[in-house]
Amino acid sequence: MNNQAYIYAPRYMEIGGGSVSGTAAICRRLGVTRPLIVTDPFMKTSRLIDRLTVGLDASGIEYSIFSDTVPDPTDTVVARGAKVLIEGNFDCLIAFGGGSPMDTAKAMNILAAAHRLDPGIHIREFKLPLNADATAVPLIAVPTTAGTGSEVTRFTVVTDTVNNEKMLISGLAALPVAAIVDFELTMTVPPRVTADTGLDAFVHALEAFVSRRANAHSDLFARSGLSLIGHHLRRAYAEPGDRLAREAMMLGATHAGIACSIAPVALVHAMARPIGAHFHVSHGMSNAMMLPVVTEYSLPSALDKYAEASRIAGFARSEMDDETASRTLVEMLQRLNRELSVPSPRNYGISPTEWQRLLPLMADQALASSSPYNNPRIPARGDIVALYQASYG
Ligand SMILES: NC(=O)c1ccc[n+]([C@@H]2O[C@H](COP(=O)([O-])OP(=O)(O)OC[C@H]3O[C@@H](n4cnc5c(N)ncnc54)[C@H](O)[C@@H]3O)[C@@H](O)[C@H]2O)c1
Ligand SMILES: [Fe+2]
Repeated sequence: MNNQAYIYAPRYMEIGGGSVSGTAAICRRLGVTRPLIVTDPFMKTSRLIDRLTVGLDASGIEYSIFSDTVPDPTDTVVARGAKVLIEGNFDCLIAFGGGSPMDTAKAMNILAAAHRLDPGIHIREFKLPLNADATAVPLIAVPTTAGTGSEVTRFTVVTDTVNNEKMLISGLAALPVAAIVDFELTMTVPPRVTADTGLDAFVHALEAFVSRRANAHSDLFARSGLSLIGHHLRRAYAEPGDRLAREAMMLGATHAGIACSIAPVALVHAMARPIGAHFHVSHGMSNAMMLPVVTEYSLPSALDKYAEASRIAGFARSEMDDETASRTLVEMLQRLNRELSVPSPRNYGISPTEWQRLLPLMADQALASSSPYNNPRIPARGDIVALYQASYG
């Protein structure tokens, strides 16, 4: 446990059903009048975005919408969006959607700020270990999935289309100024997305809890995330209309996001990113594919923490000793994947030859991301290769 703590969180958070209607008031408090809304095509056509724009219209706030975002944001979309932001003379960004629109807006903001000094700059110039701290405008984040926690994190993930690398970009510029966390926006999320995003949030809570960079503050939020998600994910998946489950999942995802913004994610995410980038598996699902094997591998280095996580999530009974409770965690994670229909890489349709061919590159990319060094058990390259092989199916 670290005594020294760095705590990152938005300046303002509004949490609760219907809170999206307060966005115009937040714009007024921030003194902004011309937002660019960043969202995805589904949000626009499904009219979910009306819940946001109706309040802006009523307040006479003039906005534009950039809805060309793609799942797992790319450098090219980010560059296009940054151009719109710069040329439109906007004074604020409102990210509305899942992690993909939120991360796109964050990266657009970083690129637009840098553009003032160097108009030719590429977003890859900001990937870790650099800190991206300068923004062009304040960013308000409104999540519509209970998953990434991007509304409260200091990270954005952007795919480099030159080499298919999912680049992790970190810094104060990626941290929204305000987050509006309204679970009612998630009531329409279909079961597959509920499962994938919910599992992503669970991994944030678990990896923050066992992280080598954990401290008393990240533990507080990680415990809350583990409990809320552990007890409500299956219900939100099976009963999409269950408001209690949706509300718990949304809060759990936000708390897990705060936890992993303080104590960053570890080996599960490191190994999931290359799977997402090369095989276009969704972020949450690729994490879930790796979760049981990486947890089993990491257990011996933080048995007490894994055991406590297992109890908090409602997987292990309170009287179980650490060894049994942590073994139960692995079994329950395997079961959760079955119940939530998470396929193995093989069952997802990834051919064994492609898996083997890309394995060395994926292992290199996982190591290069620096996330493995947050893991309780730090892997050698050979361990990563073996874990990819064990997870295949
Ligand atoms: N910045 C961070 O801290 C952080 C953390 C984890 C993941 N990420 C990134 O987030 C991205 C994934 O985000 P995601 O999992 O939220 O997926 P997403 O944003 O790609 O959305 C997944 C799908 O769900 C749909 N959807 C979203 N909200 C909906 C709603 N209310 N009703 C119906 N459908 C809805 C979207 O249109 C899309 O088709 C990845 O790029 C990942 O790398 C970022
Ligand atoms: Fe994640």
